[in-house]
Amino acid sequence: MTIKTVIVGLGKIGAENKSSKKVIRNHLNAVLENKNFEIKKLIDSDRNKIETVKRQYNFLSEEIFSYKYENIKREKIDLLVIATPHQNRSTQIRQLLKNYSTKKILIEKPFAENIEEAKKIVQIFKKPLNGRIQVFINFIRRYSPGFNQIRNYLKGEKPLHINIRYNKGLINYGSHLIDFLTYWFGKVEYVKSYDLRKHNQNDLNISFYCNMKKKIKVNFQFIDKVNYDQFEIDLFFKDKKISFRNGGVEKTKSHAINSLYYSGYSHLGEEKNFKEQDFIGDFRILYEMIFNSFSVRNYKSPLCGINQGFYNLKVINSVITSFEHNKKIFIK
Ligand SMILES: NC(=O)c1ccc[n+]([C@@H]2O[C@H](COP(=O)([O-])OP(=O)(O)OC[C@H]3O[C@@H](n4cnc5c(N)ncnc54)[C@H](O)[C@@H]3O)[C@@H](O)[C@H]2O)c1
Repeated sequence: MTIKTVIVGLGKIGAENKSSKKVIRNHLNAVLENKNFEIKKLIDSDRNKIETVKRQYNFLSEEIFSYKYENIKREKIDLLVIATPHQNRSTQIRQLLKNYSTKKILIEKPFAENIEEAKKIVQIFKKPLNGRIQVFINFIRRYSPGFNQIRNYLKGEKPLHINIRYNKGLINYGSHLIDFLTYWFGKVEYVKSYDLRKHNQNDLNISFYCNMKKKIKVNFQFIDKVNYDQFEIDLFFKDKKISFRNGGVEKTKSHAINSLYYSGYSHLGEEKNFKEQDFIGDFRILYEMIFNSFSVRNYKSPLCGINQGFYNLKVINSVITSFEHNKKIFIK
C-alpha cells in the first residue's frame, strides 16, 4: 500500500531543516525516503517559500506544489501533515478538511495555541464526517530510542522528585516537557505557579510546582536571559538519579555511593552515559510508526493522540490560571 500524503507548511520542520545520514529532520525528506509514502501535494501560502523549496528539491515536479488549497471536489488522501505555525489551527484544519478527505492527520506540536483553540479542534474531530480520522501530534521524544531505552530500563519504577529546567516558552519548549511528564508518569493532580515572564508575543515562561497523581513532586522552572538553551530533566530515585541534558540528547545515570569526602555521608557517583545517545527526532522512525498505524492490525501507536494532546493543553492552561489567581489548580 502507498500512503498518499499532503504536507502543508514547507518551512523548517516541513521541508527545510538539514538532514543527515544519521537523522532526518523534516517531513518532506522523511516521506521522500520512505517508499511506502507518495507525495500528492506540497502546500505553502508563501510563494517565495515554495520557490526556495522547489530549488532545494529540484527533482520534484512543478504540479506537486501549491500556494492554496481549494479543490473543486474533496480529494481522497491517506495522510495530511500540518507543519504550519500553531496559531489558528482550528480554522486551518476546518478548511483543509473541506478540501481533503483523509484517514490520518499528523499535526506538529504544540497541538494548539490555547485551550479554547484545542476545544475547537476536538469538536472538529467529533463531527460524524471526521470521527474516524486518527490524529497524531508530533512530540519527537515519544519515538526517541534513547528515551525509550530509559523507559524500558525503569520498568515502571517511579521517581520521588523530578526537576525540569526550560526556556523559550511554555507552549514552544514546555509543551514537549509536559508531554514527557504525562506520557511517562500519568496525570497531574495539581499545579501551583510561582513565577512568570513574557517570552515573546505568543508565549510565556512560567515556573511552577506540580504534583503528579502518582505522588511524584515536580519542579518546572524557567531559566531565561541566558545565552543557551535549557531543556533539562532530572529524575531523582531513592538510590540513583537519571538526567537528560541538551534537549535529551545526552542521557546519564548516577548511583548513590559512600562519600568520597566525608565519612558517614553519601552522594551521587560519577555520571555514566546510557548506551543509546540518539539525536532526538529522527523522522524516519516517525514515518515508520505512521506506516505501522496503517498496515499493522491493532497497532498501538506510541505517538501522542488527540486526547493526550488536549490534556497537555489543559495542564498548560491550569499553569497560567494558577499564576493569574495565585492558587493551586487541581486538574481532573
Ligand atoms: N516536533 C518538533 O520538535 C518541532 C520542531 C520545530 C518546530 N515544530 C513546530 O512546527 C511548526 C512549524 O514550525 P517551523 O519552525 O517549521 O515554522 P516555519 O515558520 O519555518 O514554517 C512554517 C511554514 O508554514 C507556512 N504557512 C503559514 N501559514 C500557512 C497556511 N495557513 N497555509 C499554508 N502554509 C502556511 C509559512 O509560509 C512557512 O513556510 C510549529 O508548530 C512548530 O512549533 C515542531
